[in-house]
Amino acid sequence: MKQNSSVKYGAAAAIAVIAIGTAIASGKLFDVVEPETDSSSASGGKTTEVTVAKTGTGITVTTAEQWAEQYPNQYETYMANSENDEVVEYTETNPYITTLYEGYGFAKSYGSARGHTYVIDDLYATGRPHKLANCFTCKTSSFTAAALNDASAYAGNFDDFKSSVEDPFGCFHCHENTPGEMVVTHTYLADALGDDLESVPGQTLSCGQCHSEYYFDPETKATSFDYTSLDTMNPDDMLEYMNSLTDTEGNLFADWVDEDTGVRKIKVQHPEFETFLGEGSPHASTFTCADCHMGETTADDGTTYTNHYWSVPTQNEELYEASCAACHGSISDFQAAVKATQDETTAREDEIGQALADFDGELAQAIADGKIEGEDLETVRMLCRNAQWYWDFVFVENSEGVHNPTLTKKCLDQAESILEEAKSYLK
Ligand code: HEC
Ligand code: HEC
Ligand code: HEC
Ligand code: HEC
Repeated sequence: MKQNSSVKYGAAAAIAVIAIGTAIASGKLFDVVEPETDSSSASGGKTTEVTVAKTGTGITVTTAEQWAEQYPNQYETYMANSENDEVVEYTETNPYITTLYEGYGFAKSYGSARGHTYVIDDLYATGRPHKLANCFTCKTSSFTAAALNDASAYAGNFDDFKSSVEDPFGCFHCHENTPGEMVVTHTYLADALGDDLESVPGQTLSCGQCHSEYYFDPETKATSFDYTSLDTMNPDDMLEYMNSLTDTEGNLFADWVDEDTGVRKIKVQHPEFETFLGEGSPHASTFTCADCHMGETTADDGTTYTNHYWSVPTQNEELYEASCAACHGSISDFQAAVKATQDETTAREDEIGQALADFDGELAQAIADGKIEGEDLETVRMLCRNAQWYWDFVFVENSEGVHNPTLTKKCLDQAESILEEAKSYLK
């Protein structure tokens, strides 16, 4: 990820350091030093009040550009996201995904994420077909407002909605039309968390509106989550939830069906929220997404404000020195530790991804040869669906393991052992 050079990271607010509780990952990848710094409270305990947007009619969006004059610092750093412009095409770097996603749009084109200001460009540029307007859910505030006005917007036509896009991304997602206040405008997140919503800081909820796993409801086409509380927000319960859903014809829910094997597959989507808040996360109770990806900056006139350039802590030296160095040492040590976790994660992703793709071929052959059928075939299909779920939960998580090394390993182990079980049916 490229770092924005024009943004000055000033004296970031001294984030108090607190002892990490029992949730600390056991595999010691870091030589973490407990600091002597005085500790009062963690920023994860931030109490910025969060409200949930009301549905209704007549909701309109004040665009980012319209806020530029009143909030120049936030606006300028927000626009600087355009400097984060690199894209990697995963179908080229990880060719086995064209087998795993065969029959689904992601097998044709799957670009890596880049700056928030590119969302609309990237949506229009993908080689994936879009039929419904629900694809705009995480791409423009204009759609967020339309869905608040009338939930039938999700089932609307994609091309018809294009002319309503006023804001590529936008401030409205996180603030509605009152910048600074934290508002959950994607109401499906509030529905999924229920009473637990209050226990998650707004600086994490605001990101969880989009950096999360979802599916489209088969009936209403509305963006929906596969959990109903923080307790059920884990890969096991979420899979069970998906496996209990049926489509409009009464079949087991599937995003697509693999033609060669008949496996009814589910696509996991960027579960940063679920992974970061999941069991084993070292910082779930100490930091928010914004603490590590936004931070505070001081403008030339001395005003401090929240930086709206979404950076990463490995590249943001000011943020790192202020909040992380006390425990993690020099930034180069930290970068090396992060890279080690990411390398380990991606190596296993590739190994298991390739093994899943190989098995896809073996299963297709066995079916063609009449070597497997009936109940056994149904069992193997289900095992393939489940194994791919656990692998995908890691593959599409954008930190490549560092948000939660423990959960990451657990998912990959699970994918591997389910695949072994599936293989035993073809022996
Ligand atoms: C109070 C001490 C402390 C502070 C401050 C702290 N960390 Fe940590 N961090 C830990 C501990 C302890 C672990 C778990 C280490 C382990 O499992 O080896 C950890 C783990 C991590 C991991 C997991 C990475 C991996 O590959 O295993 C990341 C990423 C991380 N911290 C980032 C940060 C960032 C970014 C900041 C600053 C915003 C920060 N930490 C501040 C103590 C701290
Ligand atoms: C309205 C939906 C939405 C919200 C809210 C949102 N994001 Fe994003 N984010 C995206 C999308 C979509 C992309 C990918 C953009 C692209 O590639 O065109 C992205 C990209 C990113 C990237 C860049 C990734 C890269 O590889 O360069 C970071 C970092 C990021 N988001 C962090 C955050 C954080 C932190 C928050 C909360 C403070 C947040 N996002 C809130 C939708 C959202
Ligand atoms: C992805 C979510 C997200 C988007 C989009 C977003 N903000 Fe923010 N904004 C935040 C977070 C998080 C904070 C910090 C809140 C806190 O810590 O209390 C914040 C704080 C602010 C504040 C309070 C002062 C400060 O700097 O801390 C203002 C004003 C603000 N944002 C304006 C804007 C404007 C204008 C836009 C659009 C150009 C925008 N925001 C877009 C997440 C967002
Ligand atoms: C303790 C610090 C910390 C917290 C909290 C945190 N992240 Fe991260 N995040 C990281 C680190 C470290 C990386 C990997 C950076 C790298 O690749 O060098 C990362 C990577 C990412 C990426 C990929 C960025 C890229 O350029 O490839 C996204 C997107 C992201 N995080 C979103 C989130 C969201 C959303 C949340 C909250 C649900 C969150 N993060 C919470 C530390 C954190």
